[in-house]
Amino acid sequence: MDHQRIGFIGGGNMASSLIGGLINNNYPSHKITVSDLSDEKLNELSSRFTVNTEKNSAALAKTVDILVLAVKPQHMQAVAEQIAEAVQESQPLVVSIAAGIREASLEGWLGGSVAIVRCMPNTPALVKTGATGLHANAHVDENQRNNTESLLRAVGITVWVDDEKELDTVTALSGSGPAYFFLVMEALEKAAIDAGLSQKTAQLLTQETALGAAKMALASSESAATLRQHVTSPGGTTEAALAVMEEQGLRDIFENAIKAAKLRSEELSNELGGS
Ligand SMILES: NC(=O)c1ccc[n+]([C@@H]2O[C@H](COP(=O)([O-])OP(=O)(O)OC[C@H]3O[C@@H](n4cnc5c(N)ncnc54)[C@H](OP(=O)(O)O)[C@@H]3O)[C@@H](O)[C@H]2O)c1
Repeated sequence: MDHQRIGFIGGGNMASSLIGGLINNNYPSHKITVSDLSDEKLNELSSRFTVNTEKNSAALAKTVDILVLAVKPQHMQAVAEQIAEAVQESQPLVVSIAAGIREASLEGWLGGSVAIVRCMPNTPALVKTGATGLHANAHVDENQRNNTESLLRAVGITVWVDDEKELDTVTALSGSGPAYFFLVMEALEKAAIDAGLSQKTAQLLTQETALGAAKMALASSESAATLRQHVTSPGGTTEAALAVMEEQGLRDIFENAIKAAKLRSEELSNELGGS
């Protein structure tokens, strides 16, 4: 990534995680500026990462090449309208990480004809293991796509989708997905405790098993189905457990869960101003 001037509007969890990732990758801190309503947050970011701060979002928008909008979705319209004039004047690439805000809504609030990349990151970005879906509108050029990808790669992997609508499924899978794995871990831990293990032992074994399975899946070119078959001996313990999961409809549960999350993502986008 060439060292363009990057501005963040909203200096919360996601922005600090992205800034931390950039700094870890040796991005020059003097090229990064953050704007937030809170002086406390700005002071903290400035002392932690030696980045610049700017109270006035519109002033920030005028001076950067890439403008990352990292405020909560419900604040996005007000923020966008406040910076619209500055964005029209300086035409930065706008990168939105807000869940559920459609490109057309954002572009409209910003006054039209703006290069926008919409991203759907997830919480593991906070520990540099995020998975982000990205979509670019028609005004984004190749260089801007590459720069956005580098920005989000500072906190994990990135995947482009061809159609913005696919971001509702990305939201349902990786956006909400960490919670699905937490629920599975919670349930496994409880079952192991009920079966006689201490809480500490059950928790440690659950966490390391989840990590190990994910690492094996990432390291292998085999599908998850094949990896599962490899660890399932006929007549063994794994087969006994998997038979219960199949009989009791685990696949249907996940299928219905993803459908419900996708539908809710579409509804939220409509409520937040999309069409
Ligand atoms: N956290 C995640 O894992 C995650 C995952 C996927 C997507 N996202 C998206 O990332 C975005 C940021 O999430 P977050 O968790 O980082 O939220 P956050 O910690 O609440 O950060 C947002 C920050 O923006 C500030 N802010 C609000 N209005 C502002 C304005 N007009 N000008 C400047 N700053 C303003 C907020 O201040 P106040 O606190 O005073 O309101 C807050 O410091 C959200 O849109 C969310 O959908 C987050």
